[in-house]
Amino acid sequence: MSDEISIDSMTKEQAAAELARLASLLAGANTAYHGGDDPVMNDAAYDALKRRNAEIEARFPDLKRGDSPSEQVGAAPSDGFGKVRHVVRMLSLGNAFEDEDVTEFDTRIRKYLGLPADATLSYTAEPKIDGLSLSLRYENGTLVQAATRGDGEEGENVTANALTITDIPHQITGAPEVLEVRGEVYMSHQDFADLNARQAEAGQKQFANPRNAAAGSLRQLDATITAARPLRFFAYAWGDLSAPLAETQMGAIERLAALGFSTNPLTKLCDGPAAMIDHYRSIEAQRATLGYDIDGVVYKVNDLALQARLGFRSTTPRWAIAHKFPAELAWTRLENIEIQVGRTGALSPVARLHPVTVGGVVVSNATLHNEDYIAGLDSKGQTIRDGKDIRVGDWVQVYRAGDVIPKIADVDLKKRPQDAEKYEFPTVCPECDSDAIREEGDAVRRCSGGMVCPAQAVEKLKHLVSRAAFDIEGLGAKQVEQFYADGWVREPADIFTLRERFGSGIQQLKNREGWGEKSATNLFNAIDERRKIGLSRVVFALGIRHVGESASSLLANRYGTWAAFEAAITAAQIGEGTEWDDLLAIDGVGAVMATSLVTAFHQGAERDMIDRLIAHLDVQEAAAPAVGDSPVAGKTVVFTGTLEKMTRAEAKARAEALGAKVAGSVSAKTDLLIAGPGAGSKAKKAADLGVETIDEDGWLALIDGA
Ligand code: IVH
Repeated sequence: MSDEISIDSMTKEQAAAELARLASLLAGANTAYHGGDDPVMNDAAYDALKRRNAEIEARFPDLKRGDSPSEQVGAAPSDGFGKVRHVVRMLSLGNAFEDEDVTEFDTRIRKYLGLPADATLSYTAEPKIDGLSLSLRYENGTLVQAATRGDGEEGENVTANALTITDIPHQITGAPEVLEVRGEVYMSHQDFADLNARQAEAGQKQFANPRNAAAGSLRQLDATITAARPLRFFAYAWGDLSAPLAETQMGAIERLAALGFSTNPLTKLCDGPAAMIDHYRSIEAQRATLGYDIDGVVYKVNDLALQARLGFRSTTPRWAIAHKFPAELAWTRLENIEIQVGRTGALSPVARLHPVTVGGVVVSNATLHNEDYIAGLDSKGQTIRDGKDIRVGDWVQVYRAGDVIPKIADVDLKKRPQDAEKYEFPTVCPECDSDAIREEGDAVRRCSGGMVCPAQAVEKLKHLVSRAAFDIEGLGAKQVEQFYADGWVREPADIFTLRERFGSGIQQLKNREGWGEKSATNLFNAIDERRKIGLSRVVFALGIRHVGESASSLLANRYGTWAAFEAAITAAQIGEGTEWDDLLAIDGVGAVMATSLVTAFHQGAERDMIDRLIAHLDVQEAAAPAVGDSPVAGKTVVFTGTLEKMTRAEAKARAEALGAKVAGSVSAKTDLLIAGPGAGSKAKKAADLGVETIDEDGWLALIDGA
């Protein structure tokens, strides 16, 4: 573009004219792209124009237009960020709310490690920053990649954006060859207020809170926008490493600080729950004056060797916990009660509120849980709120804790309007008029319409395409609603016959609002890509009540293939038989979940729908979790007698992490018995059956280094 004026020599008038020209060019390109016409420019040209626009805006901030292309990230003709698979998963944290939860955390750890109650166990305590986590990979001292957490296994590549954050060093010296530094990107209160003021002046959208502003700023496809946003970073953890940083958590944090990272100055070493809770109170007292949002205090076992022994549950470490601050409260008017129908047919009452700010966030909806909650009763039939019911028109107290959906905590009867009437919970589904039935012992009333109910069907389909399930690019909640309304997709299998039913498909789709030739082709290709899919994703995608993400991976790991899983669940009888016992033997699967699973597979219409879906898929065998070439992968092992170097829980968790199945009794299926002193009948039975038996040292030698 040789006729372009250089930005440095532009006058203000020229800049304004150029911004107008760029806004119109880019808007035209967007319309062409989304309207399905041939694209008027390629991605590189589009990106170059956007960059030029941002650079001019950076030089003349007051000329930024109301319709500035920089704010229209969603419309960029880019495939978004590249994906990054984390070498070491990025985890979340379990929560503690009360002081007792902290004491129990310590007790649990001692028990797991087999430590006596009087042995000192130290923890670090530090603020939990309310931002978004980021993993920075350094190789030979150079920052080579920055990735968001994503689903913990795969995040987005935001390297260009991270390079614009002043707290993040581009080069470090004296670090291990490979070092992944993890921490939180956040925005200070002052910077947040200034940013919103600038946004308001430019007629741009306001951010609800500093965390949203930080997330929106980091996830900009155009890094020049990130550069103009004042982001900061605290380092508090690490991922992949070629050599250990230190022997303790505190030592590692000090090492990161020495390498040039910002670490939180309120990080403190505490020698037990009492000291941890003291430090929590002290941080809580400073919360309002810190200048950035925190939502609790994180405790971590200080000794890294103990952290390694403690390991992880499915998504959280055993050696750390987040002690959350209490919720924030505000009063407002309840304007209406609406009923939403969910994936499993549950009728959920939602409070529509007169908007009110609770802890810096504007709240206009809150959950009312179920009909008992509205009536003033808890799940056991005991009164709550002194038995006060909730009525439309009431003055209610809204309660918000961290990210959870706000709740109604209380009602002010003195302000109740005279004509307020007791709320009558519907007994038919507001979406499909089917009976809404409440079963004995269940707090929830459910629509009996199944897939006949449009709300249930749409929610099931949305769940099916969600990130942890099929995760089909270009097929999100909005598209599912559109396809359902058009009658194109009424059940899961329909997604996979879309292309075939439409011939080339593209002609029909392309005429729909929001679809063009390119996006339609991309969608069909994205659907095809997902025909080959892992077992745990499929199990989760079915949306069976109580069967969540981590249960799905437990089931997938146990049964390995769809055929084995399907055969076992089909053969299972609720409450009896080997298949039922096998299900319950999975650590993490209880009777409620097992019942729900077996019921779904035995219920004609639901089962047929599952079978129709599976017919389109190539379900991949579940990989045993992180076993590598572990010598015990796939083996069934039994522990008996006293273990001296580890507790039973630790031994079991370690064996399972290496891909072994830990059974409670010896049978012909047992591959290995680990017998400590005092082993009795199990050792004898193993000898009778010819099962190999080793002692604890033998076991440790066997798994050494695995
Ligand atoms: S440690 C393996 N420390 O909280 C443990 N996390 O709820 C890794 N967070 O995803 C996390 N401040 O984004 C840790 N001082 C802190 C933190 C912190 C904020 C975030 C982090 C994590 C989430 C878990």
